[in-house]
Amino acid sequence: MNSFDIQFHNGQFHLFSSKVSYICELHKDAWLLHRYWDPRLTAYHGANCPEPVKRTFAAAADPEEPAFSLEMEPQEFSCPHQGDYRESSLALRRQDGWPAGRFRYQGYEITEGLYAPEDLPHIRPLDGKGAKTLSIRLRDEASGAMLTLRYSVLEDSAAIVRSAEITNEGTGPIWVERAFSALLDMPYDGEELVTFHGTHQKEFQMDRRLIGHGTISFGSTRGASGPQYPPFAALCAPEAAEHSGEVRALQLIYSGNHCVRVERDQYDHLRLTTGIHPEGFSWKLEPGERFQTPEAVLVYSGQGFNGMSQVFHQLYTERLFPRQWAGRTRPILLNSWEMCYFDVSEEKLLPVIREAAALGFELVVLDDGWFGHRNNSKSSLGDWTVNREKFPNGLTPLLDCARENGIQLGIWFESEMISPDSDLMRAHPDWAARFPDDAPLLGRNQLVLDLTRREVQDYVLDTLSGFLRTYPVSYVKWDMNRHMTDPGSASLPPDRTGEFFHRYMLGLYRILHELTARFPEILFENCSSGGGRFDPGMSFYMPQTWCSDNTDALDRQSIQYGASYMFPPSAISAHVSAVPNHQTGRMIPFETRAALASSANMGYELNILDLSPEEREQVREHLALYKEERDLILGGAFYRLRSPFDGNLCAWMLVDRKREKAILYAFAASYDVSCLSAVLKIPYLDQKKLYVERNTGRRFSGEELRYAGLAVRFPQGDFPAIKIVLQAETMS
Ligand code: GLA
Repeated sequence: MNSFDIQFHNGQFHLFSSKVSYICELHKDAWLLHRYWDPRLTAYHGANCPEPVKRTFAAAADPEEPAFSLEMEPQEFSCPHQGDYRESSLALRRQDGWPAGRFRYQGYEITEGLYAPEDLPHIRPLDGKGAKTLSIRLRDEASGAMLTLRYSVLEDSAAIVRSAEITNEGTGPIWVERAFSALLDMPYDGEELVTFHGTHQKEFQMDRRLIGHGTISFGSTRGASGPQYPPFAALCAPEAAEHSGEVRALQLIYSGNHCVRVERDQYDHLRLTTGIHPEGFSWKLEPGERFQTPEAVLVYSGQGFNGMSQVFHQLYTERLFPRQWAGRTRPILLNSWEMCYFDVSEEKLLPVIREAAALGFELVVLDDGWFGHRNNSKSSLGDWTVNREKFPNGLTPLLDCARENGIQLGIWFESEMISPDSDLMRAHPDWAARFPDDAPLLGRNQLVLDLTRREVQDYVLDTLSGFLRTYPVSYVKWDMNRHMTDPGSASLPPDRTGEFFHRYMLGLYRILHELTARFPEILFENCSSGGGRFDPGMSFYMPQTWCSDNTDALDRQSIQYGASYMFPPSAISAHVSAVPNHQTGRMIPFETRAALASSANMGYELNILDLSPEEREQVREHLALYKEERDLILGGAFYRLRSPFDGNLCAWMLVDRKREKAILYAFAASYDVSCLSAVLKIPYLDQKKLYVERNTGRRFSGEELRYAGLAVRFPQGDFPAIKIVLQAETMS
């Protein structure tokens, strides 16, 4: 048997890798039913198939088989009005106003590689090897709508990638009113639901709850994936924890409106479905046209949440983030924001660049405030020309200074926006998204550009490309600081107004695709007031994301802990900032701030010109040490050990792929006199190896660290952090 494959036998589709099996089955060559999504099976004989039972109120899908009702069957997709009264995943309407959705099986195809939907971010096919894709076609005769469900399986991965496509093969237009990417049915077995919620400066806060009867629904209608409920959900066994237990998770590769619905029905079936949020969405398909949903990534783990995260981390590192950054060193950057805010200038930045280089920084980022006549958030978005009062000689002196000092320069853009007070707005008042009869609402004093329009996309592309050719910076921070209201475009006809949100995303993705292809050497960092749009869609174009505007090293523990459920440290930017912290006023010791940022993609944003000689030395040493450890931090495996959502402590570790060196960080929110020591079990080292603790020279076996655990004692004082480095002893 191959290590991964898709087989079709006796009406059963079986996708498997070494880690996972996914099985669905045809009933009477017409209906597609779900059977299994769990650890790899070598054979499946339908042991878990429910016996059809005739129930009052249940509609028979097949007149010849009265007990067969879609209400009771586990499915792969679901349309309303077909007898399945649970959450549907697809809703279509014909031109005459009638719903359409009686889909019956037509055929299938198995192809090598991944599908890679055009125009949307996706799991990358790479060279077409190591993956296979199953496409199952179903058709609604009455409307001529064809539904293609796609499933991909990847070698050695416990991830399955799903998406759906609707093609209008009929003679009149069809409106797609709901098109989810994946639907999964399973018997309820006491599962709990893990999700994240958040807000500006407090992203990725975890929730774990029991699943009662009814539907739990969450998502975003903000025009961005949003910090409120990022696109992620995990069902887990009640006993599942970081190191053990079954977890089934999904994430959408999309950055716009999305939703997750979890329904436990009256028969204790559990349905999990996700896709583009249906609110305000509809899409007109003319005959011959197609609608492709974003991809959803489904991950099964039998090794708890860390097992799940390893699957996401590996998949995203190998097949989602831009290839040119795979395994490549990320520069340690110094960002001007918390140092200068809008008050940037050549005069201020030149000494900063010189000092940054002397301290060991590798890149200085000129954040907001450098363009138009921008001195606060009230103007100039859209006018991407250098402010000559602040930079009389343009940005060339900064670039020259950076080059002479052996470091790089980066810059900030917020290109999806338009300020009412901007030359762009004066020239193109209709380029702001709006409804025709309402004045559009402001957010952070700005409006959203109508990226559904090709000419607006081209403006952004041309202006930025022109700028980047004039000023060859090495890094771009791509920001997006408001959510959408007034999702309207002067260019959309009345029967297409429901297409705004998704067309906006397609426009944005086109810009990002073009720009990153034109400037492959530029490192793009994703930002939306921090982690307001931190999702796999943006991560397809930008390998790292400014994870939160909150740089407080206590608050950051839960933010980074939460983000690590899906994203590896290389994707999570974390900066050391000044004290008292600008967001919280906390005074957190340097060691803790450094430890926190050093657990991820590390940078700084504080005034390095204000440092005392001792602080300067501290920073210099920290940067040098991070450079030594960077390959392990950004290329190794990251495991969570103790959750800040469960109490006073937070701990995690990084270990290289050979399990020879591990760095463990433990943080306490406050010093607790009753906590003599915390014992951390570390099940992620090589049990056969002996590890030496760098600071004390103590020796422990991997086995002992796994089963007995390591006692860590926090020093007195507020917000302590401990760093422990374990090095495998070389066998003599
Ligand atoms: C957002 C970003 C910050 C900074 C400001 C500039 O809030 O998250 O890091 O770039 O915008 O206005």
